[in-house]
Amino acid sequence: MTTPSSPGGEGYRAVHRRSLEDPAAFWSAEARLIHWNSPWEQVCDYSNPPFVKWFPGGTTNLCFNAVDRHLAAWADHPALITISTETNETVTLTFRELYQRVNAMAAVLRAHGVTKGDRVLIYLPNIAEGPVAMLACVRIGAIHSVVFGGFAAPSLATRIDDCQPKLIISADAGMRGGKIISYKPLLDEAIRLAKFPPKCVLLLSRGLDPAMNYVRGRDIDLRVELARHDGAEVPIEWVDATHPSYILYTSGTTGTPKGIVRDTGGSAVALMHTMQTIYPGKAGEPYFCTSDIGWQVGHSYGVYGTLMQGMTSILYEGLPIRPDAGIWWKIVQDYRAVMMFSSPTAIRVLRRQDPAFLKKYDTSSLRYLYLAGEPLDVPTSEWIESALNVPVIDNYWQTETGWPILAGFPGSGKLERKLGSPGLPCAGYDLTLIGDESGPVTEENGERKGVLAIRPPLPPGCFPTLWQDDARFLETYFKERDANGKMVYTTFDWATMDEAGFVTILGRTDDIINVAGHRLGTREIEEALSAHPAVAECAVVGVKDEIKGQAVFACVVIKAGEQPEGEAAKAALIDGLKREVDTRLGAIARPNAIHFLTALPKTRSGKILRRGIRALAEGRDPGDLSTLEDGGALDQVRAAV
Ligand code: PRX
Repeated sequence: MTTPSSPGGEGYRAVHRRSLEDPAAFWSAEARLIHWNSPWEQVCDYSNPPFVKWFPGGTTNLCFNAVDRHLAAWADHPALITISTETNETVTLTFRELYQRVNAMAAVLRAHGVTKGDRVLIYLPNIAEGPVAMLACVRIGAIHSVVFGGFAAPSLATRIDDCQPKLIISADAGMRGGKIISYKPLLDEAIRLAKFPPKCVLLLSRGLDPAMNYVRGRDIDLRVELARHDGAEVPIEWVDATHPSYILYTSGTTGTPKGIVRDTGGSAVALMHTMQTIYPGKAGEPYFCTSDIGWQVGHSYGVYGTLMQGMTSILYEGLPIRPDAGIWWKIVQDYRAVMMFSSPTAIRVLRRQDPAFLKKYDTSSLRYLYLAGEPLDVPTSEWIESALNVPVIDNYWQTETGWPILAGFPGSGKLERKLGSPGLPCAGYDLTLIGDESGPVTEENGERKGVLAIRPPLPPGCFPTLWQDDARFLETYFKERDANGKMVYTTFDWATMDEAGFVTILGRTDDIINVAGHRLGTREIEEALSAHPAVAECAVVGVKDEIKGQAVFACVVIKAGEQPEGEAAKAALIDGLKREVDTRLGAIARPNAIHFLTALPKTRSGKILRRGIRALAEGRDPGDLSTLEDGGALDQVRAAV
């Protein structure tokens, strides 16, 4: 099918230009890539800026597009392969088998009263039941919210309270590096803490935690239920293009996570557009996405985009270095994967291992390696590109957008790239730079620098709002104006733009840090540390880390009378503080370094001088300190690092 995104050699710049000149014509042509049950009334309803509705009136279904649609041609071809090097289990489901599993799961959901618009929370490891549950939800018009497996109980509780699920689907345990992480105690604790506990929990026993208990009247054995509904067929619920398909929580600058909402029609069209342009794969070809389904990349390219294109999605549970650092290349070889999507951190981890692992396997099936989620440094990019001998395609996006803002476009003519830059703007993104409180947009040697912003309306597939919080959506993302005084969406990322249009991302402008590609709010970590009875005050910043991109660096002021006496007591207190973060947020947020100060460096207006702490922790000059109240505190940071 010819759509504006497959111009045949015209190059992506022309595609991008047309997407902005006539968005309605552009996206209505792209919309032919998916199946519609009934046509839309309007391509884009932008009568209430910055809220936008794509394809209102049109009805479609994500599950139909991802599964049912492929039964005619690909029924006996693998749709989903999940590989666990933790349990040494591999599950392969053909499109027919995936259809059957999804239908059985949908029948179970229906039997427990789940209907269109109800929320279902999924708290599972990266195993086949995850995508099956997601697809079963959207099949019946229910809204899923996947929470990364093993997230700590209080984090899970805030998500339960925000989306108020009718039902939760979970498992006994996940595994990481050979260690069993029991989910059930975390889930029980989260439900105990929640103000809106669900009435029903469907539990999958993987045989990892024989002690898993079932709460009477609430917990149900998922396998028994699935067996009961084996062979069931559940009709597709055709939903309006604007119907929410899922909510995915992401860190904000305050302690409360933001419920990113995804629509149905716009999201399907945008993902299919990217499957032609950025990730050009054919139906039947395998796509290996190393991201967990608990994150946005896992949603877009571990499940929906890949399956809608009719490709085989390969998912993985385990570490990239276990049983050895060749495991991912072995997967590429064994399954003849044509594309792979991973993170810069994972590649940096592999770079530290014996390079012989890369030569041991035949990775010649691979056409492209995609990396996203955090800045990709040039040495890592060059290393993996020459080792695999395929182009590395950096792509920049956010949970909010659901698909890339910047990328390379091997599917649309010649691939244009610039080292260090994730590339050129994707279709529908009208990018600009804006100034912020630290200064205006600057220009040097043809490169403009500022905060990356998008002129609304946001293209299809981007979040239409935050879950039941239009006010926060507006206040958080749309309070900035461009040079002409027009409202823009701010990405909260510093960036430069060169004359050729390449954008380079320099880092966040807000208090969000990025550890191994995972977004963490420094406020959340500060709140967790402050919960420790000995803590009077604390400040958390992200500092450069060679492997993980950034690491958590904490400065803590201990209450008078609680000071640890001696090294052993100090070490015990540090352990206690780390444990506090582990139980509240999960090990991902655990500080690498905790330093005890007698006071935090603050400005005269009482703001913590994070910029200064961060500079010192990274061995840089702390810059302008004219607003600093008391230099002593900063000296203590200097002495500590
Ligand atoms: O700071 C940017 C960084 O990650 C943030 C978004 O994280 P998240 O919502 O988890 O979305 C991940 C989806 C890929 C961005 O605001 N970021 C993401 N990709 C890149 C990046 N920074 C630099 N280069 C990238 N390719």
